[in-house]
Amino acid sequence: MRTHYCAQIDVEHIGQEVTVAGWVASRRDHGGVIFIDLRDKDQVVQLVCDPADDVTAHKQAEHVRDQYVLVATGIVRARGEGLENPNLKTGKIEIVVKSLVIENQSKPMPFDLGDEKVNEEIRLKYRYLELRTQKSYDIFKLRSKATIAARNSLDSLGFLEVETPILTKSTPEGARDYLVPSRVHHGEFYALPQSPQLFKQLLMVGGFDRYFQIAKCFRDEDLRADRQPEFTQIDVEMSFCTQEDVMAVAEKLLSDIFTANGIEVPTKFNRMTHREAMEKYGSDKPDMRYALPMVDVIDIFERCDNEIFSSIARSPKKNRIKALRVPKGDEIFSKRQMKGFEDYVRKFGASGLGYFQMKEDGLKGPLTKFFSEADLQLIVERCELEVGDAVFFGAGEKKLVLDYMGRFRIYLAQTMEIIPEGTYEFLWVVDFPMFEVEDGKVKALHHPFTMPKLSDKGSLDYEDIEEIESIAYDIVLNGVELGGGSIRIHKEAIQEEVFKLLGIDEEEAQEKFGFLLDALKFGAPPHGGFAMGLDRMIMLMAGSSSIRDVIAFPKTQKAQCLLTQAPSVVDNEQLNELSLRIRQTTTA
Ligand code: AMO
Repeated sequence: MRTHYCAQIDVEHIGQEVTVAGWVASRRDHGGVIFIDLRDKDQVVQLVCDPADDVTAHKQAEHVRDQYVLVATGIVRARGEGLENPNLKTGKIEIVVKSLVIENQSKPMPFDLGDEKVNEEIRLKYRYLELRTQKSYDIFKLRSKATIAARNSLDSLGFLEVETPILTKSTPEGARDYLVPSRVHHGEFYALPQSPQLFKQLLMVGGFDRYFQIAKCFRDEDLRADRQPEFTQIDVEMSFCTQEDVMAVAEKLLSDIFTANGIEVPTKFNRMTHREAMEKYGSDKPDMRYALPMVDVIDIFERCDNEIFSSIARSPKKNRIKALRVPKGDEIFSKRQMKGFEDYVRKFGASGLGYFQMKEDGLKGPLTKFFSEADLQLIVERCELEVGDAVFFGAGEKKLVLDYMGRFRIYLAQTMEIIPEGTYEFLWVVDFPMFEVEDGKVKALHHPFTMPKLSDKGSLDYEDIEEIESIAYDIVLNGVELGGGSIRIHKEAIQEEVFKLLGIDEEEAQEKFGFLLDALKFGAPPHGGFAMGLDRMIMLMAGSSSIRDVIAFPKTQKAQCLLTQAPSVVDNEQLNELSLRIRQTTTA
């Protein structure tokens, strides 16, 4: 219907006839002459309907309202002097309309499309209207460019794109499964994949050597700003590779994707061990856009005269005492703010938050009386304190302290507004522990198919199961876990041993993953890979604070689609076919 998109029309078209099509972004009646801003997918152009030029078109324009759908034909002319709009790509021209067709009317908008403060519920209910905004179009353009760049990048590296099943068996990524009842097999269920993990490993056994997929994954877990029940991974697997090979592919892929969107990023990312990340930043995904590292001071506190601190310090394996230096903290924070910090860490289980102030004549603060002059000096040196700084202390059980001090570090950076915008700090976190023990239960930190680092004796015979490291790595961007992967177990004996350590007995292993264990018996090659969260990546590239902005039709925090009203009840006939009956839950 159109000869040009709005964005294509410029001063070089002056005097030419064009036809444009789109939605009315606004309409202004200036004493007889009607001006319409017409928007198509990504640009606005000004239409002028003057009865002196064309009476019929002007009459039509009188009926036009916001978001009506128009096709307009007219002659391009230069805007009058002083009437140019430098903020608009088409700001130097306008179209004098000869013919105006109203293709469709529109009800009044349920919300102001440009207003980002509008309640999310209403925006999601009418998501297709929100998609009409420039901001949304830009995000999806970026997303499209990113997936195309990913495909081209992996294709150039010899990866084959293969689709894996959606109706499948449970894959163990740690969340709950979405289940789909089978009509044909009464009482039996498919599970939607939490990731293509097992299938991609089977593709390696199938000899494909290099696989990738832009894969939909489904996880029934508590939702947050960077989590959706249905999300997309760029999923990659390769054979006969080392960790270095996999990392090089991930770095090239990310650099190609970001470059395609005009963002320069390094082609090699910094690395940090999991242990260092936890001890220094209290997180396995530290944000490296700012420093604020934690320093270990447990040995100094052991000598202090405060029984609470010194007794904590006497168990350095189990406990931690960490110092966090805040440059100029003593100068910038009020007493009230310092108190507020203590309240903040208490929310995460801290019993308190000690602090010192670095004054001209040395360390001051309520705790100094418990330390010798020499030890106070040692704290100054170890924390590299300068006059005007503040230093905070967290003391207690290791996991707890690392967690709340890590959160406090982020909170401080936000409070001090020191996080630079528009920068991209990638980091590899490597050497993850293979297992973690929670409430006496052993769990795989990545997933049970990750290759553990074997002991000197070539076995998994370690004294402390939490000491076992794995060949697993995460990609972190600006404090967000962007992706993760590992070298996999390709030998059945090791896989069985890992299952045993996880408390999965032979029968359960056979029932759940028998097909994988079988495949490992038929010449499985050494292999490894990774998966990146595409939605999270786009969220960071677009500078959005919610993953929902970058998904065309997202779910709410309660896993609902407000647009289609999914999930919804189904009729009894459908339930009967599936041999299902809904149990009525009684509420007290
Ligand atoms: P993992 O579980 O770490 O690894 O997932 C990889 C990446 O997927 C993204 N992601 C999510 N994004 C949005 N919403 C969610 N609910 C969600 N869950 C995960 C994250 C995450 O880093 N099979 C392994 C990968 C491998 O070992 O190759 C896996 O799925 O960005």
